[in-house]
Amino acid sequence: MARKPLIAGNWKMNNTIGEAVVLTQEISNRFEPDWSDTVDVALCPPFVDLKPAKTVLEFDKQHIAVGAQDVYWEEKGAYTGEISVGMLAEIGCAYCIVGHSERRGLFGETNEDVNKKAKALLAGHLAPIICVGESLAVRDEGTTDEFVCAQVRAAFAGIDENEAAKCVVAYEPIWAIGTGRTATPEQAQAVCAAIRETLKELYSQDTAEAMRILYGGSMNEGNAAILLAEPDIDGGLIGGASLKATSFIAIIEAALK
Ligand code: 13P
Repeated sequence: MARKPLIAGNWKMNNTIGEAVVLTQEISNRFEPDWSDTVDVALCPPFVDLKPAKTVLEFDKQHIAVGAQDVYWEEKGAYTGEISVGMLAEIGCAYCIVGHSERRGLFGETNEDVNKKAKALLAGHLAPIICVGESLAVRDEGTTDEFVCAQVRAAFAGIDENEAAKCVVAYEPIWAIGTGRTATPEQAQAVCAAIRETLKELYSQDTAEAMRILYGGSMNEGNAAILLAEPDIDGGLIGGASLKATSFIAIIEAALK
C-alpha cells in the first residue's frame, strides 16, 4: 500500500521566536506548494515558537503543519509548567511528538505516560508521533525487536483500531540520535518491519499497512534517500538537519522520489 511520507523536523530546544520565524520563512520560501500532494511536512519547534511558526505558514498558505514536542494529558489545572492538548489545538497543531528518548531518558517519561499522552492527543484530534527506540546496550544484547515492540504495545494499550490508524510511530535508535552514527538502511528497515508486524498483531493487516512508521537518528540530506527507499520507512523525524532550511528541504526532496 502506498503511504504518503511524513518528514517532521524536531527542533528540540533550539531557536528563539525571532530565529524560529526566520527559519520557518526560509523553509516556506523554498517549499514548492505542489510538494504537499506527495509528502506531508511538519515543523515541531519549542512551545513558544509554535504560534509564530504557524502564523508564517498560514500567511504563506503553505501546507506545512506544525507539531509540538510534548504535551500533558490533563485538560487543565494545577500542573505548573505543563501544556494541554487544547492549548496545542488552539494554535492549530496537527501533530505532537510523545515518548522521545530524550524525554524518557532525561525527564523520566514512562511507557504509561506515553500511552496517556497519546490517548489525550487522540481525544483532542491531534496525531501523536510515538517515539520508540533502543539503547546501544539493548542492541548489543540482541534484544532490539523485543524491546522496541514492547514499547509499541505499551504505547497503544487501550487505543482502538480507528484511533491507532491516526498515529505515527517513529523508530529512533538512541545510539543514532545526534551522534552522526545512522542506522544502516537494513537495520532501520528490520526494526520498522517488526513494528509493523506488531501493529498487525494488535490491530489488522489493513491498519498496520496504512500507518506511517518514520526513522529518526542522524538522518540528513546525504542518507535520507537510501533510508526512505526502504519499504517500511515512511518518512523521517529529523533533529539536527531540520535546523537548516537547505538540509531540511533536501530531505523533503528525497521523500518526493
Ligand atoms: P538527530 O537527527 O539530530 O540525530 O535527532 C533525531 C531525533 O531525535 C529526532 O527526534
